[in-house]
Amino acid sequence: MIKKGIILAGGLGQRMSPITKAVNKQLLPLYDKPLIFYPLSILMLANIKNILIIVNKGQLNTFRKILPEKNNLGIKIQYAEQKKPRGLPDAFIIGKKFIEKDNVALVLGDNFFYGQSLTKNLKKNLIFSKGARIFLHPVKNPQRYGVAYLNKKKKILKLLEKPNKPKSNLAVTGIYFFDNKVVEFSKKLKASKRGELEIIDLLNIYKKKNNLKAEFIGRGGAWLDTGNVKDYYDASNFISTIENRQGLKIACLEEIAFNNGWISKNEIKSSINFYGNCDYSKYLKTLIN
Ligand code: G1P
Repeated sequence: MIKKGIILAGGLGQRMSPITKAVNKQLLPLYDKPLIFYPLSILMLANIKNILIIVNKGQLNTFRKILPEKNNLGIKIQYAEQKKPRGLPDAFIIGKKFIEKDNVALVLGDNFFYGQSLTKNLKKNLIFSKGARIFLHPVKNPQRYGVAYLNKKKKILKLLEKPNKPKSNLAVTGIYFFDNKVVEFSKKLKASKRGELEIIDLLNIYKKKNNLKAEFIGRGGAWLDTGNVKDYYDASNFISTIENRQGLKIACLEEIAFNNGWISKNEIKSSINFYGNCDYSKYLKTLIN
């Protein structure tokens, strides 16, 4: 059972420069919350309370302002710094001490997931002792992502990073579950042509050992990109549309913690004080009245 999760919130966010020149992308607003709330909400929905957030060197204190170690969410947050972007598997090298002897989830700080059966699907896959799990989602532009080729029995035949002419539309999304071998395997990886350790190379080690399983976020779910400015605003609009229609918030961290039984009304009251007079606080008030 996975009880620990890492959020990789580093990176230069170059495709969104100049917006990201002074501010980490994960702290920018995705509609009405900082982007990082969304991947964090995914870990919390999966019942993961022990969380390491990896940020760029020098950015620790800005992150702490919004997600302090001592928080009202009933979760344990720790931080680590990454000196420079060295690729996704670097998260496991940096996170070695945090991971200890446990299995671990990784979620990318800029990934947005939404869907009715998502939580159930994640929870189901948390229970394993050996190997790795990936979550695939159909996309129109697979050449921008890691791509999985499957056979009829849904067994993974091949994984390629950003293939020029992908013959599969199944992208590897930014949430991954790994057994404890992930630290050792990550250390063995060599940098790719783009000068980074590649998650696909790491997954291929598991595949070779017949220890990689694919799960699906089907067409009823959404996995949205926040990589460039247009995609970012499209994702923002998606959230705005759903939230304003339903009157319910996506990725309200206190709501998830409250529903999980991790916090009481008192912590929600402290959060209302912390955020001040805003729509998010008004929403929190509706949870406790
Ligand atoms: C990374 C991974 C890729 C994955 C994607 C998901 O791409 O390398 O396999 O599909 O995240 O967001 P990058 O963001 O480094 O281009």
